[in-house]
Amino acid sequence: MNPSRSCLVMGNWKMHGNLADNAVLLAGLVAGAQRAGHAQLAVCVPFPYLVQAQQALSGSAISWGAQDVSVHAHGAYTGEVSAAMLADFGVSWVLCGHSERRALHAETSSVVAAKAAAALSVGLTPVVCVGETLSDRDADNADCVIADQLEPVLALGADALAKMVIAYEPVWAIGTGRTASPEQAQAIHSLIRAALVQHGSGATPILYGGSVKPANASALFAQADIDGALVGGASLVAEDFLNIAASAA
Ligand code: PGA
Repeated sequence: MNPSRSCLVMGNWKMHGNLADNAVLLAGLVAGAQRAGHAQLAVCVPFPYLVQAQQALSGSAISWGAQDVSVHAHGAYTGEVSAAMLADFGVSWVLCGHSERRALHAETSSVVAAKAAAALSVGLTPVVCVGETLSDRDADNADCVIADQLEPVLALGADALAKMVIAYEPVWAIGTGRTASPEQAQAIHSLIRAALVQHGSGATPILYGGSVKPANASALFAQADIDGALVGGASLVAEDFLNIAASAA
């Protein structure tokens, strides 16, 4: 982590949780938030629980976000949720193009960029996720895949890029227990940084995601271009999530 940038540790609950378990988890996070030191904490929760997150986290140092957003502002789009609706619930962050949405919902990189633009249009911060599959990596193609995924997002321009976050999540490391080595992660982060610099926004935070745990977080955070983490499984356990954030100290 470059000391001039702050550290962001963001949980992605995915489709997990219920009112009772969330209440325990959110209370645990609020109670332990000071352990995060200088790291900023955030949780991206399923849509129905945004109001619960808002109630539990308002007034705390922890912010909350959503896991997806519609490209449309309003209209006949059954099942979609607009950025303005998210803003109504105090949302700060929106995950855009998580690999599960790209793989399971056929989201293309241009749709992902449109979602980022929709979030920005109402003042939310998009967290644009990119990452290669194992076969991309084995074919030595990771750099090209990341560059392709980034292209439409970079085209949004420097002003937009300055207001977003990029998350590098190698698909082969998500939920598998197989983390990219700090060096592998840094290699891609530096490539993303170079692209951002070239597009006039070198300070855009770049998070790493993929089996981040308390045991591997500090080695990842020690890398020059890793500005925090997007945490799936370990964000469902308050102790683990807080310990990850504490390793940024
Ligand atoms: P994981 O998920 O930490 O469980 O690997 C990360 C993510 O998908 O955001």
